[in-house]
Amino acid sequence: MSDYVVDESTIFETPLVELDLDLASDATVFAKAEWFNLYAAPHGGGSIKSRIAKGMLDGAEERGDLEPGVTVIEPTSGNTGSEVARLASDRGYDVEIVMPDNAAGGKVEAVRDAGAEIEFVDADLGYDAVIERCEEIIAEDPASYYRPNQYENPDNPGTHQRTTAPEIHGATDGEVTHFVAGAGTGGTITGTGRGLAELRGDDVEIIGFEPSEPLHAIDGLKYLRTGDHYHPETYDESVLDQKLYVPTDEAYDRARTLRERYADESVPIADPGKHDEKTVREHLRVDGQFVVGTSAGAGAAAVAALDEADDLADDDVVVFMLCDRGDKYADIPLWEEYL
Ligand SMILES: Cc1ncc(COP(=O)(O)O)c(C=O)c1O
Repeated sequence: MSDYVVDESTIFETPLVELDLDLASDATVFAKAEWFNLYAAPHGGGSIKSRIAKGMLDGAEERGDLEPGVTVIEPTSGNTGSEVARLASDRGYDVEIVMPDNAAGGKVEAVRDAGAEIEFVDADLGYDAVIERCEEIIAEDPASYYRPNQYENPDNPGTHQRTTAPEIHGATDGEVTHFVAGAGTGGTITGTGRGLAELRGDDVEIIGFEPSEPLHAIDGLKYLRTGDHYHPETYDESVLDQKLYVPTDEAYDRARTLRERYADESVPIADPGKHDEKTVREHLRVDGQFVVGTSAGAGAAAVAALDEADDLADDDVVVFMLCDRGDKYADIPLWEEYL
C-alpha cells in the first residue's frame, strides 16, 4: 500500500496561467497546469490523467464492473498507469500495471510507490506487446481482473467533456476561441472539444496535434500519421477543425524557451482553480524553475505554428494543456541539466 495519502478532492479545477509565447499576434494564450491534480503526490504530482483515472474508476464502480476483491490491471507506459495505480490502491484494490521496460523513471517510481505490481515487457518488442501481455494475464483468470482500458473507455473523453471543457469555459469568462491539445488516446481533444462545442458552438476552434515522426520522444502522444497504427476508439477526429504535426525538437525547444522566459519573472496566474494562489506559486516551479513535460512543450509549439500560419487574431483567446510537470522527465536530455 502507498505510504502517502492520495487526495482525490484535489482532482479537477486546475489553475489556468497566462503564457507569453512571443507570438506575432496579440492573441492571449492560457495554459492549464494539470499537475495540480493530485499535486501533493510525489514524483511531480499528478497529471491530466488523474482526471480520467478517477472518471474511469468511478464509472466502473457505479456500473458494478469493479467490485472489492478484483484486481485493476492496465497496460500503459505512463501517466495513466501511475494515476490508476494511485487511486485504485487507495480505494483498496490490488493493482497490476504492465509497462515497457523503458518507461520514464518518475512514472515507474510513482507506480511502485503506489504499491502496484509492475510487469515489465521488453520495449524492443513494441508497444503492442505490452497490450498483448496484459490481455494474456487477464485471459488466465478473467473474473479476477478489471481493465479500465483508456483507449476504448467512453469515460475517458466523457470525463473531459464534463470537467475540462466547463472549467476552461468558466476560467476564460466564456471567451475561449481556440482549444489546442495533443492526442495519445485522443480523450482530451475529443471530450474537451465536444464540451466546448456545446458551450461555445462555432465560436471555438478545436485544434489537435500529433507527433510528426514515428520515433518521436513526446511522452503521452501517439504517432498515427502513416502506416498501420492502432487508432484509439476514444479519438474522434470529426471533432477537430484542424490538425497539426509537431516535431520532437520543436516541442523540446519550446519547453526550454518557457523555462528561460520565466526564469526571473513569475508566471501570471489567470485563475487558481480550486487552489489558493500560494499553493499554485509553490507547485508551478520545481527548484525555482518553470519546467513542463514534453507534451506541454509540444502544445506551445502547436500554438506557435497556428500563429505563424496567421490563424490567430489579436483578440483571440487560446487555451492549451500543460499535461504534467517536467520533474518526471529529469532523466531525459531536455531537463537533465536543470533538475
Ligand atoms: C503527458 C501526456 N500528455 C498528453 C497525453 C495525451 O492525452 P490523451 O490521451 O487524452 O490524448 C498524455 C496521454 O497519455 C500524456 O500522458
